Amino acid sequence: MTALLDAAERMDREELRALQLERLRATLHHVYAHVDHYRAAFDRAGLHPDDCRSLADLARFPFTTKADLRDNYPFGMFAVPEEQVRRIHASSGTTGRPTVVGYTQGDLDTWADVVARSIRAAGGRPGQKVHVAYGYGLFTGGLGAHYGAERLGCTVIPASGGMTARQVQLIQDFRPEIIMVTPSYMLTLLDEFERQGVDPRSTSLKVGIFGAEPWTQEMRREIEERFAIDAVDIYGLSEVMGPGVAQECVETKDGLHIWEDHFYPEVVDPFTGEVLPEGAEGELVFTSLTKEAMPVIRYRTRDLTRLLPGTARVFRRMEKVTGRSDDLVILRGVNLFPTQIEEIVLRTPAVSPHFQLRLTREGRLDVLTVRAEARAEATPEQRAAAAASVAAAVKDGIGVSVGVEILDPETLERSVGKFRRIVDERDRPGS
Ligand code: DLL
Repeated sequence: MTALLDAAERMDREELRALQLERLRATLHHVYAHVDHYRAAFDRAGLHPDDCRSLADLARFPFTTKADLRDNYPFGMFAVPEEQVRRIHASSGTTGRPTVVGYTQGDLDTWADVVARSIRAAGGRPGQKVHVAYGYGLFTGGLGAHYGAERLGCTVIPASGGMTARQVQLIQDFRPEIIMVTPSYMLTLLDEFERQGVDPRSTSLKVGIFGAEPWTQEMRREIEERFAIDAVDIYGLSEVMGPGVAQECVETKDGLHIWEDHFYPEVVDPFTGEVLPEGAEGELVFTSLTKEAMPVIRYRTRDLTRLLPGTARVFRRMEKVTGRSDDLVILRGVNLFPTQIEEIVLRTPAVSPHFQLRLTREGRLDVLTVRAEARAEATPEQRAAAAASVAAAVKDGIGVSVGVEILDPETLERSVGKFRRIVDERDRPGS
């Protein structure tokens, strides 16, 4: 196995920390010299890049937020002349301007390297075939996975998202060992296999590399069991790079190793911004260490997790992301994430993993309804029992009353990419 690791994966922690500090200082100098936003922000804080003498000093530097990226739309955060930018990606976001990111040729190479490292950590090997069903386009998922798989020496099947029946056909005919797709779209594929009368456990697939949205251990069990594959987690975000910022190793499946030679993580208190000790839960913050076109300093991801020591690799791990602070529903004072409902739904017999949360308002009260599809074979009695059991589990486990609707199979919209778990109808008149 060691022979398969690249140089950074074979470093010890001391060497890694020295490399991180050197790269961090270079990055701070690079942005201070070339990005007006950073120069102004550092000046306002009374800091110069030379003030960063240890990794801990980074905590003195100001955060960067999505709003900073939007204010500098489209190319104001770039640190190289535009003609050196080889690729642009953008995330649509729910409101307003998209967030734009740029890559030099060097950045594209780094990105392919970290995704190749991710696929290898997931169990992929040169010569295998990788079915990429992340969307291609401005979204970083498709192209990010694509070039990483090629870099590892795999054969890429660039399926992109959508045309679900054809995806199943391609998997049957081309016989890939690996699939890279959002976990929610994997469930859509599962239904399609069954609809076509193909046993999902009989395919050539051995490993699924799932990310771009939160998913739980229960979802892992469901997918592993129904497809007879290993299901591992890949994390990333366009502002920091795209997929391949962190990856779960197939041999341990114990959270995601952050490729810390390129991305420096901190976990902070989401309210005060104070850096939290290792192991404490908070908001993940990243500083890029090698990016050229659009480095980010202390970028607030909004993703909630904790940092843990490395196991299968020298790099620190992040725990599976429980949710984004934006997805937090506060229902009558109780905090709730869609992933908590996912765990309950997946434990309940007679309901399928397809569910959505609908928020409405009755008078002054917010009401949450869990809408989950019944399994095809469920009887009316089993459906009624399932509704009662989900409601009771939410009440007991989370401490709040919710409504539960068990729907007919195939009634919720199917995912072809990131799935919208929360439908908020609170501001609609009459709701
Ligand atoms: O979703 C990049 C990506 C593509 C990652 C394919 C993995 C696979 P964005 O569209 O910028 O980039 O969205 C980033 O998605 O801040 C998280 O909230 C969420 N996210 C990404 N991966 C995971 C994961 C891509 N494994 C945002 N678990 C991030 C939970 C994830 N959430």
